[in-house]
Amino acid sequence: MNAQKNPRTFHVKSFGCQMNVYDGERMAELMAAQGMTATEDANAADLVVLNTCHIRERATEKVYSDIGRIRKHALRDHDNAPMIAIAGCVAQAEGEEIVRRAKVDVVVGPQAYHNLPALVAQAARGESALDTDMPLASKFGALPSRRKVGPSAFLTVQEGCDKFCTYCVVPYTRGAEVSRPFDAIVDEAKALVDAGAREITLLGQNVNAWDDETGTGLHGLIAALDKIDGLARIRYTTSHPNDMREGLIRAHAEVEKLMPFLHLPVQSGSDRVLKAMNRSHSRDSYLRILDRVRAARPDIALSGDFIVGFPHETEAEFAETLSLVDAVGYSQCFSFKYSPRPGTPAAEMIEGFVPGQVMDDRLQRLQTALNRHQAAFNAGTLGRTCQVLIERKGKLHGQMLGKSPWLQSVHVITDAAIGEMVEVEIVRADPNSLAGVERVRAAA
Ligand code: SAH
Ligand code: SF4
Ligand code: F3S
Repeated sequence: MNAQKNPRTFHVKSFGCQMNVYDGERMAELMAAQGMTATEDANAADLVVLNTCHIRERATEKVYSDIGRIRKHALRDHDNAPMIAIAGCVAQAEGEEIVRRAKVDVVVGPQAYHNLPALVAQAARGESALDTDMPLASKFGALPSRRKVGPSAFLTVQEGCDKFCTYCVVPYTRGAEVSRPFDAIVDEAKALVDAGAREITLLGQNVNAWDDETGTGLHGLIAALDKIDGLARIRYTTSHPNDMREGLIRAHAEVEKLMPFLHLPVQSGSDRVLKAMNRSHSRDSYLRILDRVRAARPDIALSGDFIVGFPHETEAEFAETLSLVDAVGYSQCFSFKYSPRPGTPAAEMIEGFVPGQVMDDRLQRLQTALNRHQAAFNAGTLGRTCQVLIERKGKLHGQMLGKSPWLQSVHVITDAAIGEMVEVEIVRADPNSLAGVERVRAAA
């Protein structure tokens, strides 16, 4: 750690989940409010904030290779090495260990980043700067208000997790389940719409567990956001099967702004494995929830997360995951090889670790099946007419890129601007994206 001058420019790089993306935006706003300037180029910044993820071993290792890369570049091109701040879940999990191993200047956990400017000032004075507290008072009150955002914005409404799945670090890195207050969320949603958002995705590690003292529930919150003029679309992620309440399922039938998409991770199709994972739902109870959701909103796109090679997983148990995938017909999914995480119960099940080659083989077979279903889902939207929210320019002249209600990427030739909604007929369906032709322009 070396004494440095106060940084004037900064660069935030976020890894991991959407909640980290949201936190990264809030940290950038915080530093901009201190008079610092954001730079696109990490190599030109006086301060680099690595907002890290601890979910799998490879995610954690990325942090250390990134620190190495920043330092190497600094040695070549600059007299002064940039200040390095480690935020996010690796900061929370490893704390002092990162300072020891990588000699970074600042370490700040996901519940303490409102203190980032103070920690940077401390580091600039050559003092140690580490804060991984999880204070009772939420950081949100100490953050500046939202100013400029894209058409599709994230809004964290719930943090932490009490589920303790046996493979997962999140309950340790993000702390206990906490819901932000109703009014604070509605205010932030309005500020996001004023700042340019047309779509808001409500975020939480278990977003459907969101609640307040009066039992409003996530569906009640969604109903309140539905009333915000200028907001066109509402989404939410990630949900846990056990918190999928009737009101939320009904909201998919009743709330027009709520998009027909549900990300509901299942992890495995085997009851024995689900039990060992401490998922507290079964294959059957999960499938029954999806039946109810589909009854409420027949065209809903379903998404999930899977882990292959959980300790002791047999070929027959893996085959149950494949059969569940075929039974559901997902529109898109994430799938991972099990990664033992320090401090989690599953990491102790060493005698049951599945060999790397077996995991590779299972992941490949699972992904082949998931890709097949994704292609089939996309093909199923061919010929349909839907609204597309334009999010950015495409590669071709006049081409814009946006999202369908079912969260597919859609290419369309249009003179609509970013943030506009266009009505599109889907004329081509590829495995990873769609192409559409603009119909009538919706009123802006
Ligand atoms: N709260 C969400 C998501 C948590 S993390 C949920 O309950 O589903 C996102 C995904 O990472 C998980 O759904 C799981 O599929 C995966 N994951 C978590 N820990 C993992 C581990 N140790 N190894 C491999 N994948 C993991
Ligand atoms: Fe991790 Fe399970 Fe909590 Fe999801 S529900 S964050 S997988 S412990
Ligand atoms: Fe990663 Fe933390 Fe999110 S471990 S997935 S950044 S909650």
